[in-house]
Amino acid sequence: MKDKILQLLRENTDSFVSGQSLSDKLGVSRTAIWKYINSLKEDGYEIESISKKGHRLISTPDILNYEEIKEHLHTNIIGRNILYYQSLDSTNNKAKEIAKDSIHGTVIISEEQTSGRGRLGRSWVAPKLKGVWMSIILKPDTDPLNIPKVTQVGAAAVVKALQQFNIAAQVKWPNDIIINGKKVCGILTEMSGELNVVNYVIMGIGINVNMDENEISRDILPTATSIKIETGIKLKRKELVSSLLNNFELLYKEFESKGTIDETVKICKENSALIGKDVRIISRSKETLGRAIDLSDDGELVVQYNDGNIEKIISGEISIRGLNSYV
Ligand code: BTN
Repeated sequence: MKDKILQLLRENTDSFVSGQSLSDKLGVSRTAIWKYINSLKEDGYEIESISKKGHRLISTPDILNYEEIKEHLHTNIIGRNILYYQSLDSTNNKAKEIAKDSIHGTVIISEEQTSGRGRLGRSWVAPKLKGVWMSIILKPDTDPLNIPKVTQVGAAAVVKALQQFNIAAQVKWPNDIIINGKKVCGILTEMSGELNVVNYVIMGIGINVNMDENEISRDILPTATSIKIETGIKLKRKELVSSLLNNFELLYKEFESKGTIDETVKICKENSALIGKDVRIISRSKETLGRAIDLSDDGELVVQYNDGNIEKIISGEISIRGLNSYV
């Protein structure tokens, strides 16, 4: 009911909509309408209410429910089913719980996470209303070996979305998005499947959008930052999410229909934080020095080791670092 009232208010921002007409149109009492209007105000909608005139929507809050995101969403499938929470331990955990019974393209968004998870067992700090903490449930009909490509699609979609706000960001293969050499976004792709079958994929994306320096843990300050800290721009998170989902669907379509990720690889190469740089390749057991020289058509990082050998590496358990810095 609240969303219907909101819709009617949105359609009439130039004039007042009377409680009576809302009550007639929606078939509920004026008292009920009043309660819903108050509840919308509590959600952060600025509504001018004048007796004998009615209600007028003045501004909408930057919250990440479907009502707000759909304004700028042009997708057919991705994000057409959004589950929105005030607080979760982790959107990836929630996505896992419901993935089996959810449709492809379902998105879980939470305004905060109390136990956000990063790659390689690390934690991810996700303070309330300051960033984008979301997971997309995907059900690709493909070999599990192709799933690392989905992370690249996600990374390319984040870069493209930021470009739409005139923000230049780079991909630090395989899953970090970087501004001014520091991380603003991480992607955690998890999969459930068997040897040859993918049951579902969960792509978790965390973007530090409007955090100030004191909201970033001290221990990660040397390598982590937010879009606001680096650019001074306070983005509307809902617009960023819509743009990200729009770009993700476009790029994912190529993967889904042809199994290729040509457009994604093009974006990741053009905006790579690593290609042409000396890097340390850190796997569980050893650290090797080399130079990142390219990205393969399948989104693997091509490195040349100091002994001259060239190898394509797949993301798995590997971390990449610059020789003397994060990138
Ligand atoms: C990384 O860089 O290590 C990946 C970080 C991924 C963080 C996101 S926030 C939304 C989703 N839910 C989680 O618990 N993690 C991912």
